[in-house]
Amino acid sequence: MSELNTIALKIIGNGKGILAADESTATMTKRLENVQVESSPENRLLFRETLFSSESMNDCIGGVILYDETIKQSSNSGKKVPELISNSSSVPGIKVDTGAKVLANSKEEKITEGLDGLRERLKEYYKLGARFTKWRGVYIISDKYPSKLSIKSNAHALARYSALAQECGMVPIVEPEVLMDGNHSAEVCYNKTSEVIKNCFEELELNKVDLKAVILKPNMILPGSNSDKKISNEEIAKLTLKCLKDSVPSEVPGIAFLSGGQTDIEATDNLNQINIHNNTNFIMTFSYGRALQQSALKFWSKDIKNIKGTQNIFNHRANMCRLAAQGNWSKELENK
Ligand code: 13P
Repeated sequence: MSELNTIALKIIGNGKGILAADESTATMTKRLENVQVESSPENRLLFRETLFSSESMNDCIGGVILYDETIKQSSNSGKKVPELISNSSSVPGIKVDTGAKVLANSKEEKITEGLDGLRERLKEYYKLGARFTKWRGVYIISDKYPSKLSIKSNAHALARYSALAQECGMVPIVEPEVLMDGNHSAEVCYNKTSEVIKNCFEELELNKVDLKAVILKPNMILPGSNSDKKISNEEIAKLTLKCLKDSVPSEVPGIAFLSGGQTDIEATDNLNQINIHNNTNFIMTFSYGRALQQSALKFWSKDIKNIKGTQNIFNHRANMCRLAAQGNWSKELENK
């Protein structure tokens, strides 16, 4: 087993998953202003370190994805943030793309940037304690999208990023997110997501990326958020499994889903169904941002000094996600 494969399994093995706390300052500002909290560096740190020092970090969270600002901050306990995370036997990770910009010649679509100077930034993040990285490509669905141009360009960037991350001693999370916006059916999401993921792996192989040391972070197969063709959690799980079984090479150790705008309960229920029906050898777990944080953020915003209360809410969500990552979640446990 390579060292990077061991790190990947530490992050997503044993029912653990990933806390995506890598919102850019602009996104975090929107989240905080939504709940009437001022977005200062101190407040962003306070909320995040409240989560990172929760009890559930030990058993439920194998890795935390940080943003550039946070990985350089020291917590109020005096420890550097990456150290706070490693102390609870979780692995610090870092978002390394610099965001999605308009794609030339396909102006409704986006291309993720950040390859220039990436090797140097990766070396710096490694020194700061990061052992895995994230890069998100984003795709829209409509009759004509995602275009071949967006599929090829984003796959190319994801592959070059992954090769550099491994060269610098870190496990790349490959995140091709097909957005749920639109009124398309789950079948359309299935077809477009399959094409996107297959193209990503073609490029990863071309770039000689070690697939045993990669974590795929895809969307689940869902009907568009404005579609009237709703389907059951079990159908979502079966379509998602079929898509991944057909498009992900078997060497990949695991898949950690994004929540992508699902409610926290939907994201938990769907992951649980995926694990109940998992007929693949892939670990299937979570890498949730909103679905892990939103209930805790809402509670915290009412009294930002109530650390224990906020941690209780977060611990519950993290425990529910861990159960779902093993197919052991239920509505009864959720409401207990
Ligand atoms: P969500 O779970 O809120 O979609 O965030 C995951 C993520 O990391 C998006 O890049």
